[in-house]
Amino acid sequence: MTEAREAILLVGGKGTRLRPLTVHTPKPMVPAAGVPFLTHQLARARAAGVEHIVLATSYLAEVFEPYFGDGSSLGLSIEYVTEREPLGTGGAIRNVASRLASGPDEPVLIFNGDILTGLDIRALVASHATSGADVSLHLARVEDPRAFGLVPTDDSGRVTAFLEKPQTPEEIVTDQVNAGAYIFRRSVIDTIPAGRPVSVERETFPGLLASGAHLQGMVDSTYWLDLGTPQAFVRGSADLVLGRAPSPAVPGRCGDRLVLPTASVAADAKLTGGTVIGEGALIGEGARITGSTVLAGAVVEPGAVISDSLIGAGARIGSRTVLAGAVIGDGAQVGADNELRDGVRVWCGAVLPDASVRFSSDQ
Ligand code: GDD
Ligand code: MG
Repeated sequence: MTEAREAILLVGGKGTRLRPLTVHTPKPMVPAAGVPFLTHQLARARAAGVEHIVLATSYLAEVFEPYFGDGSSLGLSIEYVTEREPLGTGGAIRNVASRLASGPDEPVLIFNGDILTGLDIRALVASHATSGADVSLHLARVEDPRAFGLVPTDDSGRVTAFLEKPQTPEEIVTDQVNAGAYIFRRSVIDTIPAGRPVSVERETFPGLLASGAHLQGMVDSTYWLDLGTPQAFVRGSADLVLGRAPSPAVPGRCGDRLVLPTASVAADAKLTGGTVIGEGALIGEGARITGSTVLAGAVVEPGAVISDSLIGAGARIGSRTVLAGAVIGDGAQVGADNELRDGVRVWCGAVLPDASVRFSSDQ
């Protein structure tokens, strides 16, 4: 069996580290390269042969189904299961088990809902079949593994431990981390306890290892990014536009910029580095925007200079204002001649008067 026909997508997290982007929108529905981020994952799963996807929802659960419906526009059959209380990653997987049609030995693909990756899904399924593992995990190599699950393996790729979010230097025994895509043998899903919160990372994986189960890691060096922080989200969106991160769902040709059809951009505005301009957004004369995401209906006034930033839906950026590594919440108004840098987050609906914040002298 080299195809997984069914997948579970975990999309119920609160997206706390992305706030204020996730105040009105769950993380997987924040637009990346012009469409809700989840669209890219769904399209990639479809391209790898997946036909049936169950979305495990919790936070702001009501927005998914009106957008994706039964999935037929993506060539998929999509079902939605909402947790009454968040069940954690493992609890969410167990909670949707009754919707799976796969037999006990068949492979089920499971994805974190905030991973942008070039993973060859078919290769992960094939390696799962060859190794005969109970669970196969995609592993990525990162410089700083502290924000992830650490997954050391032996020479054959068999997982020897699973250490979620290591705290001490002694715990950092490898640079291989859980990349958030798994193949579970279906019968293993049924062994997760039902009806209570379970962390697949802190409880299920360590428990399986302790009981002698076979967890197999597949390390590869393809594109991989967890879009859990604003800077990563903006980077991921730009990489989709630039074609560095592969997705069949980018609505247009890959290149330096993506301007959605109803946006209006002044002739001399300069858009580069994978910048996306959302529906109905207005970009004024002489504005320079690089590596940034401007969401629907936002307005960038003449002469603004924006890099590596995200402008929320309906927000307004005043003339000559400089944004570098900034996140502007939905509907916020940043007046003219401000300078906002380095991870600053302006909350949804906030109003900053003209010339009120700078990081450098105004002279
Ligand atoms: N349905 C549901 N219910 N989904 C949830 C819940 C829940 O209670 N809690 C989290 N999720 C979803 C999130 O929406 C996200 O898609 C996924 O589970 C992972 O949660 P994150 O909050 O993004 O976790 P993380 O990034 O800190 O760590 C996870 O991902 C890393 C890779 O990006 C872990 O799996 C790490 O081991 C891994 O390295
Ligand atoms: Mg994450």
